Amino acid sequence: MSDKSKIYLFANWKMYLDYDESNILANAIAAQAKSIPTSVKMAIFPSALALYPVGQVLHDVGISLGAQNVYWQDKGGDTGEVSARMYKEAGCKYALVGHSERRHLFHESNSEVRKKLEAILDEHLTPVICVGETEKERAENKTEEAIEIQVRAAFHNIVWPKDRELIVAYEPVWAIGTGKNCDPIEAERMHQLIKKQVIALTGITPVILYGGSVKPENVAEYLKNPNINGVLVGNASTNLESWMNIVAAVR
Ligand code: PGA
Repeated sequence: MSDKSKIYLFANWKMYLDYDESNILANAIAAQAKSIPTSVKMAIFPSALALYPVGQVLHDVGISLGAQNVYWQDKGGDTGEVSARMYKEAGCKYALVGHSERRHLFHESNSEVRKKLEAILDEHLTPVICVGETEKERAENKTEEAIEIQVRAAFHNIVWPKDRELIVAYEPVWAIGTGKNCDPIEAERMHQLIKKQVIALTGITPVILYGGSVKPENVAEYLKNPNINGVLVGNASTNLESWMNIVAAVR
């Protein structure tokens, strides 16, 4: 059984909040930081432009900062990109990699995900590797196969730094932003499978988060499972009340 002494509550703000909205929400969360149980590891992934001021506010109350995406080069003529190194300099501890919106809307391949993952590790950030099957793959009974391909591409022959946690987010594509959350028992089954595969590939026991339409009403159903170490939340993390209700559900 995984160590469940820590519960991971990770908030992916995506492109939902502009600069002012991000700062307002970060300050409001910081003002309520005393009500966050000590067992919770919280990280916020704001938009790139809001990241620096949001990070300053969160740092003072012990909430971590993360990047939603990185580029694998450190510096160069890569118009529009932001490198893992630059996110590190801006105060990030974590970086998402292979989020399904990156894979599907921006056509990121498994090999690009791997290059990003290695750049994140090189910069001493902790990656959060997202994997998930599409609705079509699930309908065709190819869920396990789809996940195994993504997990293998991410971890095959990787040298994992000893000082770094290995965090995977299981996020079924059909459950993201749709309101259709995955059945918690099914999510637990997938977490067991991912755990087994990651251990076989790396020898490391991963932390595995569930993501996909998590909200205050369903979060406890996920967290009670032995292999669900926390949640990665999109929509419901962008509103103070629903985010603090998710936090409250941990107790
Ligand atoms: P959602 O997004 O909570 O809005 O479904 C989750 C995610 O994409 O990480």
